[in-house]
Amino acid sequence: TWIDTGTDPSFFGPEDANRKVVLGTEGGIPSLWIIVGPPLQELTRKLQKLVGVTPRPPLWSLGYHQCRWEYKGEKHLKWLNDHMVKHKTPNDGLWLDIDYMEGYRVFTYDKDAFPEGPEKTCAKYAALGRKVVPIIDPGVKLEPGNPVYEDGLKKNVFCLTPEGKPYVGFVWPGETVFPDFSKPEARTWWAGYAKSFKALGFGGAWVDMNDPSTGAVDPYAMLFRDGTLPHGAFRNQYALGMQMATRDGFQQASPNERIFILSRSGYTGTSRFAAIWTGDNVSNRWYLKGTIPTTLNLSLSGIPFNGPDVGWCMNDTNEELMIDWVKSGFLFPFFRNHSGGSHRRQEPWTFSDQGLHIITWYTSLRYMLMPYLYQLFVQQERDGDPILRPVQYHYAGGEIPDDVFLVGESILQAPVLEESGHRQLDLPAGQWFDARWGKWVSGHLEAVCGPFATPLYF
Ligand code: NOJ
Repeated sequence: TWIDTGTDPSFFGPEDANRKVVLGTEGGIPSLWIIVGPPLQELTRKLQKLVGVTPRPPLWSLGYHQCRWEYKGEKHLKWLNDHMVKHKTPNDGLWLDIDYMEGYRVFTYDKDAFPEGPEKTCAKYAALGRKVVPIIDPGVKLEPGNPVYEDGLKKNVFCLTPEGKPYVGFVWPGETVFPDFSKPEARTWWAGYAKSFKALGFGGAWVDMNDPSTGAVDPYAMLFRDGTLPHGAFRNQYALGMQMATRDGFQQASPNERIFILSRSGYTGTSRFAAIWTGDNVSNRWYLKGTIPTTLNLSLSGIPFNGPDVGWCMNDTNEELMIDWVKSGFLFPFFRNHSGGSHRRQEPWTFSDQGLHIITWYTSLRYMLMPYLYQLFVQQERDGDPILRPVQYHYAGGEIPDDVFLVGESILQAPVLEESGHRQLDLPAGQWFDARWGKWVSGHLEAVCGPFATPLYF
């Protein structure tokens, strides 16, 4: 399904000149819902009620998360925990990327990396207030003897090609087949494995590559529902199916726990099952600036629990950029520091003493504001209001740039995104309390940003 709101006039012929919105599909008829406003608040609330609100997440999922494509087991977890204790870095989540698995086989773990077994390791860190969150990819290694593969073949839960054979892609473990999440029985099958995996003691799940990424093979040969649905009919919902099945399995394993799933891709309705992070970004100022409109757009489009990786990914960060990134994103709904293993380390203590101090300061400020942040999630569940909001959500009038945003109704942030360290800003009408200097301010401001001061107004 696609929609054009007139951004590409060359796309249309002369007969389309007066059309404002054009909708189409590659195949089939889309369901179209028209939501009527204004105000913006009503549109967002109605949309959120229609697609489903995000159930109140576990408190720990709102904390600071530490990740790197490298962490694989006890050795890294201990290193992280020791440094966090030493440097008083508040943290709730320690994340394991694909290296924790045995040869990248889904629902396995590397036995050498967990000498005591994941149950003991996870319990140890949970007792210290940190959940261990593993990545889970949809691709199942095609390999005789791999129990998940053989079981899936027997139960006929994989996507098929037009020839009726399992569709084979090429991802981390090599040749891989893919669960067909459009089939309820495949979701139940997957949920069974997710349930056993959660029972190993993991806190939540990070479901990745569910766009779906299948490698350098023809995506259109991946059919759904026993080969009866063309690729385009389910592709965009693939991640949603994976989220549903994973969440279901985790919930079965821990019926009394609030479940947290983080996903790369999503679809309408994802709000009920998972949070979204905005995928692989690059450590530069262009990406830093892009995080704010992206996060705001997601917030207004039915994905209230979202956020970018802080600092990542495709090149080395540097201290100044990392600090500005943390200062911009420390109140985003989801807050995780993630980096690629071949790039500069970016755990807080790998920067200078001052850098560490600033990063820890802002992370701690998030924790100080946690009751407020948590209350926003309660309000979201009740009314459908997002966590991060454009200024226009509450304050009409004036041209407000899209790098100024509200966290709930009561906090306005105008991060400094340029190296220059200062910015101009027009505050919405009324008196605002400058959280940095403890002063009442209003109107046009020149906001200067010292190391410990991000422009933040209540
Ligand atoms: C792609 C994800 O977007 C990234 O965050 C992750 O580190 C890699 N896959 C490896 O699992």
